[in-house]
Amino acid sequence: MDSIVVTGGKPLNGQIPIAGAKNAALTLMPATLLSEEPLTLTNVPRLSDIKTMTALLESLGVEVTSMQGGKVQVLSSHDMTSTTADYEIVRKMRASNLVLGPLLARHHKAVVSLPGGCAIGARPMDIHIDALELMGATIELRDGYLHATASGGLKGARVPLRFASVGATENVLMAATLAKGTTVIENAAREPEIVDLARCLRAMGAQIAGEGTSTIEIQGVDKLGAATHPVVTDRIELGTYMLAPVFCGGEVECLGGRMELVTAFAEKLDLAGVDVAETEAGLKVKLRGDRPRAVDVITEPFPGFPTDLQAQMMAMLCLADGTSVLEEKIFENRFMHAPELIRMGADIEVQGGQATVRGVDRLKGAPVMATDLRASVSLILAGLAAEGETTVNRVYHLDRGYEHVEEKLSAVGAQIARVPGV
Ligand code: EPZ
Repeated sequence: MDSIVVTGGKPLNGQIPIAGAKNAALTLMPATLLSEEPLTLTNVPRLSDIKTMTALLESLGVEVTSMQGGKVQVLSSHDMTSTTADYEIVRKMRASNLVLGPLLARHHKAVVSLPGGCAIGARPMDIHIDALELMGATIELRDGYLHATASGGLKGARVPLRFASVGATENVLMAATLAKGTTVIENAAREPEIVDLARCLRAMGAQIAGEGTSTIEIQGVDKLGAATHPVVTDRIELGTYMLAPVFCGGEVECLGGRMELVTAFAEKLDLAGVDVAETEAGLKVKLRGDRPRAVDVITEPFPGFPTDLQAQMMAMLCLADGTSVLEEKIFENRFMHAPELIRMGADIEVQGGQATVRGVDRLKGAPVMATDLRASVSLILAGLAAEGETTVNRVYHLDRGYEHVEEKLSAVGAQIARVPGV
C-alpha cells in the first residue's frame, strides 16, 4: 500500500486545477442505463471510484469507452447482459447502489447487493427502498441482496423522503424519468450533484423541474436519448484545496471553483479569518493574519456545511486561536481522523457526534493512518503545517476521491511525495 510523505512549513503559491465532481460522476455514469443511446461525459475525474463504477457497469454489459486519459467517457447500455450488481463490487463502493433506480426503470428488475456498512457508518438503504416501493416496485432483501421488480414498469407517485438523502434522491430522480405519470419528490436533497444529474437527464430528454430545491417534479417519458454532458466541478476537492494555504501560508487560486458551490463553507472560512475572492478563473484564497480564528461547525444537507468537508475543517481548527465545536449530524461515526490528528499534537475531545477542538500553536509530523476518504486528506493538510515529516499510510482511501493529490500540492510549493508500498 502506498504512503504519502509531507514535510510541513512550505508556503503555497500558485494555481490548483479542480477536477470534475466524483459524487456527480458516480450518479451520471449509471444514468446511461436509462437509455439505449450513448451518453458522453466530459470533465470526468480520474479516480479509483470511477474505475470501480466502470467495472460495475461493464459487469452489466454496458460498453464504456474512456478517452483523453479518462477525462471523457462514452457509455452505451445498448447490449445489456445482466441486471445484477455483485457484492464483490458493491462492497467496495456504496455508490454502486445508484444502478438500482435506472435498472428498475428501464428493465423493470434489479438485483443489487446491499453495500454493507463502511468506516463512517451503517449507511442503510431504507429511504431508497421505501421511495421505489411507492412507485410500484417490489423489493425483497434476500442473502444480502435487494431483489427488486416492477412488473409493467414503475408508476409516478408522490415520494416524501424522511431525510434528504442524496443517493435516494438520485435513485428516485433517475427512476422517475421513465415511470408512467408524474413523480413529485418531497424533501429532496439539494446538492449541486443533484442539479447536475437533472441537467444531464434533461439533455437526454427527461422532463424535470425543481432540481436544487426540496421539491422535484418529473413527468415520465417513454424513452430517453443520447446526450453529452460536462461533469460539474468537485466542490469537495475545491473546499479541500481552499484550506491548504491556511495551514502553511501563501495564496492559492483554485481553478474552476465557483462561490455558489461552497457558500456555507466560504462563510465559515471568512469567520475564521480566511479571505476567499472570486476571480475570472476560480477562487483565490489566503489567510488574513498568521493564524485562523476558532469557529463552530454543524454539518447539514446542502446548502448547509458539507459533511465531506468536516474532517478538513477540523484539521484547520486544530491550529486556530481558540476553541471550536464541530457537530457531525449526517453520519454516526465520522471523527476517525481525530485520533490521528491527536497523534500530531492536536487537542481534540470527541463525545458522540460532537468534537471540541482547542487550538494549539503547532502540530508535529508523525506516521498516521488514513481511515476513510475525507479523513485521509485532512491528515495531508495537517502535514502541510506540521513540523517535520508526516507519513500518511493506506492512501488508497485518498485515491478514491482525489486526483494526484501529491502532484497538485507539489506544483504550488508543498514538499510532498508518494512512496510506493512494499
Ligand atoms: C452521498 O452519500 C455522498 N456520496 C457522500 O460522500 C456524502 O457524504 C453524502 O451523500 C452526504 O452528503 C456520493 O454521492 C457517492 P445520504 P449517500 O444518502 O448518498 C442515512 C464522500 O466522501 N441514510 O445523503 O450515501 C445515511 O446512513 C462520500 O465522497 C439512511 O439512513 O448519503 C447517512 O447517515 C461519503 N437511509 C445519511 O442518511 C438511506 O436509505 C446521509 O446519507 C439512505 C441514507
